[in-house]
Amino acid sequence: MTLRRLFWFSLIFLAPWIIRSQAIEESDLNPFRWNNAVYSCKCYEEDRCWPSIETWNKLNTTVHGQLHRVIPDAAVCYNSFEGNPTFNATACAEVTQNFGGQQWQSDRAVAAHWILWTNNTCLPTTNPDGRCSLGYYPRYVILAKTRQHIQAGVDFARKNNIRLVIRNTGHDFLGRSTGYGSLAINTHSFKDVKFIRKHTGPGGYTGGAVTVGAGIQGRELLRLANQEKPKLTLVTGECPTVGFAGGFIQGGGHGPLASFHGMAADQVLSFDVVTADGKFRTVNAAQDRDLFWALKGGGPGTFAVVVSVTVKTFTDIPAAGIVLNINQTHTTDETLFWKGFAAFHNLANHWVENGMFVYYELFPGSLHVQPFVGPNMDKEKITEVLQPLLDQLAKDSVPYSIDVKEYATFFDLYIDLFQDEGAGANALVGGRLFTKQDIAEHGDEIVEAYKTSGGAVGHIVGPGTGAPEVDNAINPVWRNASSFSITNIWLDMNATLADKATAQKRLTEEIDGPLRAASPHGAAYVNEGDLEEPNWQVAYWGSNYPRLKALKAKWDPRGVFYARTTPGTEAWEVIDYGRRLCKKKE
Ligand SMILES: Cc1cc2nc3c(=O)[nH]c(=O)nc-3n(C[C@H](O)[C@H](O)[C@H](O)COP(=O)(O)OP(=O)(O)OC[C@H]3O[C@@H](n4cnc5c(N)ncnc54)[C@H](O)[C@@H]3O)c2cc1C
Ligand SMILES: *[C@@H]1O[C@H](CO)[C@@H](O)[C@H](O)[C@H]1NC(C)=O
Ligand SMILES: *[C@@H]1O[C@H](CO)[C@@H](O)[C@H](O)[C@H]1NC(C)=O
Ligand SMILES: *[C@@H]1O[C@H](CO)[C@@H](O)[C@H](O)[C@H]1NC(C)=O
Ligand SMILES: *[C@@H]1O[C@H](CO)[C@@H](O)[C@H](O)[C@H]1NC(C)=O
Ligand SMILES: *[C@@H]1O[C@H](CO)[C@@H](O)[C@H](O)[C@H]1NC(C)=O
Ligand SMILES: *[C@@H]1O[C@H](CO)[C@@H](O)[C@H](O)[C@H]1NC(C)=O
Repeated sequence: MTLRRLFWFSLIFLAPWIIRSQAIEESDLNPFRWNNAVYSCKCYEEDRCWPSIETWNKLNTTVHGQLHRVIPDAAVCYNSFEGNPTFNATACAEVTQNFGGQQWQSDRAVAAHWILWTNNTCLPTTNPDGRCSLGYYPRYVILAKTRQHIQAGVDFARKNNIRLVIRNTGHDFLGRSTGYGSLAINTHSFKDVKFIRKHTGPGGYTGGAVTVGAGIQGRELLRLANQEKPKLTLVTGECPTVGFAGGFIQGGGHGPLASFHGMAADQVLSFDVVTADGKFRTVNAAQDRDLFWALKGGGPGTFAVVVSVTVKTFTDIPAAGIVLNINQTHTTDETLFWKGFAAFHNLANHWVENGMFVYYELFPGSLHVQPFVGPNMDKEKITEVLQPLLDQLAKDSVPYSIDVKEYATFFDLYIDLFQDEGAGANALVGGRLFTKQDIAEHGDEIVEAYKTSGGAVGHIVGPGTGAPEVDNAINPVWRNASSFSITNIWLDMNATLADKATAQKRLTEEIDGPLRAASPHGAAYVNEGDLEEPNWQVAYWGSNYPRLKALKAKWDPRGVFYARTTPGTEAWEVIDYGRRLCKKKE
């Protein structure tokens, strides 16, 4: 037999056996009848395939007692949860007081800041006779302390066909860090940080770097970097409490230094991860390069559980900042107000070409810019860069107020001008990324579209402006970006499924629709985007999508990881009113 024949022989006769033996080891998907069809689903507690108490106890032993059955935080405000007494007035007062706090929420086992995704079945209340149920929270959570705990969780979910959720800080706007009936792995305890003066690992980069545990949050990391000598800084998000190594980097990660240094995913030198097969791996320019590429912007919670990430650091530099307001105290004339906003937003290319990042909140009749960030600028320089805006506002007779500040370091600016935001919002989120060409050619149309959107949380950010281009999975359109906005719709706490569907449709069509139409070269951002974004594969990843989909099939063939609208998830859907995760029916 020739070698080639032997190859084909073994492939044809042995492959089915190899595949079958795997399938025997790991349970198959579970049949579930819904809407007159039989779906193949993950296993849930109400199913026969669910592991026995003994099996869960074994897992608990493996993870050194860090497995917990989830009890919603607000259960202490109710007489009972699942038949067990839970009421505790002191604890309830604490939960009620802290429920809107980002840091408090981040430190919980499974809390989701955007409570819509918990199904609001156990909110803080003054009525203990009300009903508290699990809603869309996970069933169990592993508060992982070591990488072995993560491995045990991944293996358990894979072998028992249980939906796995990776939860770090719970910031996810799109509810990807919670999931009905799932096993969650919480990575928020991984707080190790190690600065490296001169990077020697693969990739050829020899500057400063830092290895950051998965649980570290933005401001926490900036604070540690600021204690180094010389003071260091890096690309984090504008939000002080967003996790650094979790969803943020895996989705791309923009922030106050992004127009200056590029996206957070552009800074990555190496990841330590646990992949869907339960193996621990170090991935970088030398090992598993394809996975390394995908983890840099290819989608949160999609390819592996990140244990730590190594990224570039930069020596901190002076910075200047400006706070600008145009609101009802200045004018109640709508036409004038929108002229002011147009003057500001149409200069987006100018801001990013000067290395600036701008964070703003737009409400009807109110523009609050806090702040314009000018890295490596002083008061004089940033005022000079601002001049075209001030000239235009003067020309249009738009009243405004500004406050110009300068700081010895970017860190000082960050602490002074970026603040915690609120958690606990019951809202759907959408968004749109505009390119420089969109701003130059359709600036006024974009402003018109904002008038219909009712408001936006805006970021003027141009990560392709000054930074060298890096080969990674972020949408290449990011390299042309100039402005990125988040939109949202708030819902009543008692919104029904039908109300939610109506709101979602309105968000996609009436709010994001005009923004999309006004930006033919634009894109969308997976971390801050619309779950029903039309053609989301292209909107979120552009030309990188086909490769990402293939890599998902390679690295997670069984769909151990699931986060909505990430590569490969077109094969799956959540049915039964937000409950069961199943293979999609065509
Ligand atoms: C108030 C606010 C401000 C924000 N500001 C910015 C900003 O300035 N720039 C920006 O780019 N984004 C920003 N975001 C979006 C943010 O980047 C995403 O929500 C991000 O996914 C949060 O990641 P996390 O790990 O902190 O949160 P989580 O909600 O815990 O996780 C988010 C996603 O990442 C996955 N994940 C978490 N940890 C891991 C891990 N260790 N390994 C693998 N997957 C993991 C989860 O499964 C989930 O899919 C902001 C969000 C909020 C709510
Ligand atoms: C796991 O073990 C710890 C420590 O013994 C215990 O407190 C916890 O309740 C156990 N978890 C479960 C789900 O039984
Ligand atoms: C009630 O909650 C408080 C605050 O969390 C705690 O100190 C106390 O032990 C709890 N009481 C009981 C009976 O569990
Ligand atoms: C989620 O909320 C809807 C609307 O209130 C309700 O009909 C449904 O039963 C809830 N599902 C779960 C699992 O909580
Ligand atoms: C309006 O602008 C003023 C500054 O001129 C500021 O003090 C105030 O907080 C702003 N109001 C709102 C609602 O943003
Ligand atoms: C970026 O903009 C340039 C110039 O307008 C254009 O040629 C290129 O195709 C754009 N890239 C992407 C990915 O849209
Ligand atoms: C839901 O709550 C709002 C107030 O938040 C109230 O106006 C409305 O009537 C409630 N709807 C239902 C169906 O209970």
